[in-house]
Amino acid sequence: MAFSSPRYAFNFFIIVLACLTIGNSQPILNSVEQESVYRVLESLNTDVLWRALFPDDLCYSAPHGVVCDYAPVTGTLNIVELSFGYVSDFSSNPTCSPNSTLLDPFIFSSFPYLRKLFFYKCFTQQPVSLPDLSRVGSGLEELVFINNPSLFGSLSDSIGNMTSLRRLIITGTNVSGKIPAGFGQLTNLEEATLSRNSLGGDIPDDFSNLKNLKVLDLSQNGFTGKLPGTIGGLENLLKLDLSTNRFSGVIPETMKGLRGLEFLDLSDNRFVGGGVPMFLSNMSKLKWVYLSGNELGGVIPDIWENLKGINGIGLSRVGLIGEIPVSMGVFLKNLSYLGLDNNKLTGGVPIEFEKLGSLNELHLNNNNLSGKVPFSVGFMGKVGRKLRLDGNSELCVGEGVVKSFYKVKKCNEIENPRSALVYGTSSSTRIGNHIYWVSLVFIFIFM
Ligand SMILES: *[C@@H]1O[C@H](CO)[C@@H](O)[C@H](O)[C@H]1NC(C)=O
Ligand SMILES: *[C@@H]1O[C@H](CO)[C@@H](O)[C@H](O)[C@H]1NC(C)=O
Ligand SMILES: *[C@@H]1O[C@H](CO)[C@@H](O)[C@H](O)[C@H]1NC(C)=O
Ligand SMILES: *[C@@H]1O[C@H](CO)[C@@H](O)[C@H](O)[C@H]1NC(C)=O
Ligand SMILES: *[C@@H]1O[C@H](CO)[C@@H](O)[C@H](O)[C@H]1NC(C)=O
Ligand SMILES: *[C@@H]1O[C@H](CO)[C@@H](O)[C@H](O)[C@H]1NC(C)=O
Repeated sequence: MAFSSPRYAFNFFIIVLACLTIGNSQPILNSVEQESVYRVLESLNTDVLWRALFPDDLCYSAPHGVVCDYAPVTGTLNIVELSFGYVSDFSSNPTCSPNSTLLDPFIFSSFPYLRKLFFYKCFTQQPVSLPDLSRVGSGLEELVFINNPSLFGSLSDSIGNMTSLRRLIITGTNVSGKIPAGFGQLTNLEEATLSRNSLGGDIPDDFSNLKNLKVLDLSQNGFTGKLPGTIGGLENLLKLDLSTNRFSGVIPETMKGLRGLEFLDLSDNRFVGGGVPMFLSNMSKLKWVYLSGNELGGVIPDIWENLKGINGIGLSRVGLIGEIPVSMGVFLKNLSYLGLDNNKLTGGVPIEFEKLGSLNELHLNNNNLSGKVPFSVGFMGKVGRKLRLDGNSELCVGEGVVKSFYKVKKCNEIENPRSALVYGTSSSTRIGNHIYWVSLVFIFIFM
């Protein structure tokens, strides 16, 4: 929306101008574009009498979402924006009926000056082919299809001709096929959201030409193959979401080039080995990092001092071994979500987590953690069911904690010195009276 605000001011100017010229009935919009808008509206919603409701020149009076502007050289008035599908009262585009369709898939070539084409929940029942946009002209800046489940077809190679494209959003459709050759020519692209479709194939090498890309979201598709090392060249990226695909291989080291990244989601793919990447520490702006559901293995690296702004970490189901680093609880002051469940973590639960004021969801279930859960009754009450501890057979809770709530046994502190000692050694700050007492027992036994 921020992209278009100066344009809206300009449109207001046009409306004023149109009001002044309404006296002489000179048509402002050419008849081809006027007629084409009616035809699109009529195929999207047959119940509304569009020609009767908007009988005048559409550059003078049009439904919300139909916008005119002057062409740069010729000075003629043309349609520059077409937005369909009611979003909200603030964005009350023409409503699409349940049986809406596109009778003429080539119709958008009637709009040579189109800058924005937007469809929200328009194609939901009738199968509708992705319209041919190769002749729309090279001025298209925003192409948006949101939640159109019966839209099908594939992106064509000619997409590379749309060199002005800044936002490409095709999400929640049945669009399939590969990312076409020529995609890398869209060097003005700032956002590519292609999530929740039926796309597949691998990410082409020339993706790295998209130097202006800030958002790349390919989540919930069927993409495969290794990530090209060149992905690290997308140096302006703020959000990278590749979750729920079938990407494989090692997460490439070159991704450390994504210095400004704030959101990284690679969860539920087939990345293997290499552990949790050390290069995360070079992404100092990271706020969310989700790697869950990949066979990464290894221990949790001690990289958290460089990542103090992190809000959410998902490292569930990644085959982690070793102990939970105390540094996570020391440095990650803004942490609100931490998922470490379904790994093979051992050792104790660091008491430092209790001091993280924002922490409201902590999943430690299904590991091999041991010892007494060090949290106060108050902290455990605050986090409630979002503290998951079950499936750690050697973990126990002290007095005042309802063990059935967490599905964790009650501690029998004298009988279980080994696990208590394990939990004590994972943090130098925790060697208190209890461990001292256990150590005395050991010394006594060995004397
Ligand atoms: C769509 O449904 C409406 C009734 O809601 C009906 O009047 C119209 O003919 C239908 N249009 C098409 C193209 O099937
Ligand atoms: C999506 O497309 C496939 C064929 O590519 C088709 O079998 C399926 O029915 C379509 N789904 C919807 C919801 O239109
Ligand atoms: C558009 O792209 C296609 C395929 O890449 C190409 O053959 C065609 O010449 C291009 N058209 C224009 C007008 O650039
Ligand atoms: C990445 O971070 C590490 C420390 O975490 C630092 O030693 C290294 O120089 C950084 N690399 C780059 C390329 O900034
Ligand atoms: C933590 O969050 C607060 C409030 O949102 C913010 O002001 C602060 O900069 C954050 N800390 C870091 C290290 O990013
Ligand atoms: C859990 O750790 C204990 C030692 O603390 C070990 O004997 C046991 O085999 C481990 N269980 C699993 C499932 O790894």
